[in-house]
Amino acid sequence: MAKVPPGVGPRFPQVVILFGATGDLARRKLLPGLFHLANAGFMPDCRIIGVSLDDIDVDAFRSIARKALDDFGSRKPKDDAWNEFAAKLDYVPLSAGAAALRAAADTAEASFKGESRRLHYLSVPPNAALSAVGMLNEAGLVERSRIIMEKPFGTDLASAVTLNGKLHQVFSEEQIFRIDHFLGKEPAQNILAFRFANGLFEPIWNRNFIDHVQIDVPETLGLGTRAGFYEQTGAFRDMVVTHLFQILAFMAMEPPTALEPRPISEEKNKVFRSMLAIDPINVVRGQYAGYRAETGVDPESDTETFIALKCAIDNWRWAGVPFYLRTGKRLAEGQRIISIAFREPPKSMFPVGSGVGAQGPDHLTFDLADASKMSLSFYGKRPGPGMRLDKLSLQFAMHDTGLIGDVLEAYERLILDAMRGDHTLFTTAEGIERLWEVSAELLESPPPVRFYEPGSWGPKAIHQLVAPHAWRLPFERAWRDPNKTKS
Ligand code: BG6
Repeated sequence: MAKVPPGVGPRFPQVVILFGATGDLARRKLLPGLFHLANAGFMPDCRIIGVSLDDIDVDAFRSIARKALDDFGSRKPKDDAWNEFAAKLDYVPLSAGAAALRAAADTAEASFKGESRRLHYLSVPPNAALSAVGMLNEAGLVERSRIIMEKPFGTDLASAVTLNGKLHQVFSEEQIFRIDHFLGKEPAQNILAFRFANGLFEPIWNRNFIDHVQIDVPETLGLGTRAGFYEQTGAFRDMVVTHLFQILAFMAMEPPTALEPRPISEEKNKVFRSMLAIDPINVVRGQYAGYRAETGVDPESDTETFIALKCAIDNWRWAGVPFYLRTGKRLAEGQRIISIAFREPPKSMFPVGSGVGAQGPDHLTFDLADASKMSLSFYGKRPGPGMRLDKLSLQFAMHDTGLIGDVLEAYERLILDAMRGDHTLFTTAEGIERLWEVSAELLESPPPVRFYEPGSWGPKAIHQLVAPHAWRLPFERAWRDPNKTKS
């Protein structure tokens, strides 16, 4: 494992108070992530206090954490590493109240030698978030603390404004970290490096050269045990108003004056301000056949498990360039891509039948998987007589660098940033509220859901939505397999 460079971790020991400590996200991501951060030496010291509705004791919580690491951790704990981590865990059931939480925090802090900080992580549904905030306030744990909030940040503009108002009664905006784990993904940050660390791409990053953009995040997953949450949320609120719009902002923003939280937020918020309100005519909502029969789902549910939409950023850089977004459950493939289609040449001198343009425009594609990939596709000549053209590509895969082991998972990266007080990859109240504003018409008058077969790419209407273009997925040519290339 690579040595942790100095200065990447927080300065002070941390008490992490994890609400929702036995829930799905905690087990899948947060507990394994905290284990890695502690074990790999990213934090000077820490104590983790789990809080949840479950009336269990600390030993039972340790067993849950151990199982979570075994089931979901990408790095399995060795016995001594586990024992060291287990000793850092404590647990307070919600029913024990604020005084018990305060006592546990005091004990944790007393175990550190000097100054420490608190990180509250609210991995709970929206209706529980404010009562957790109230409990932290009652326990006197607001000082020296930061708080990570999980989406959804409201369900529309009015509820987001109310939520932000209530939060601000207890925590200042500086203390609040609204997490969007897509921004913690290594390739999302690589968009910034790609655009602003090179002189090559930024000059063509605009309406003069780019024809349209697709942000496409199909998932093969169904809902598992999340139907209760999902019924209230749907694909638009779960994925678009959060992850896809945030990625869109990184892709579309102007160069910030510095790579710092405030300038980056300013530029992202300018993108959101320039977004035109989403017109329901440009939206396809879908529901996979069989969804209504799932446990916890209303048999007449109108919740969308799929959404595709066209949106626009009405500024000098992007006016007239359509942005197509798509995501949904139980689709044909799991992918997370941004695909940028370039304009075709103004005139072609290639003979009829040469194949020029036959495989769509030139594309730049980012794969947002942790092991990120990028490709630039273009036409080149097929060897031999005459002039036949083929689509070729330049590809980069993180695997090729040998640095794949250094990738921090999105939640790990973001927890570390919050501990350091770095807001760069978090979203602001202003940004969120604007996104609800551009979504208002769609939320008020959503088009009817259309059914699609599980394992498909969504309802048929998606093709009309992008016409005269075509969806980039499924890829005509698969990504090059870096392991195969080497052999
Ligand atoms: C979550 C959504 O925020 O992101 C899930 O609630 C979705 O519905 C998930 O499956 C996708 O994240 P990732 O990192 O697995 O692509």
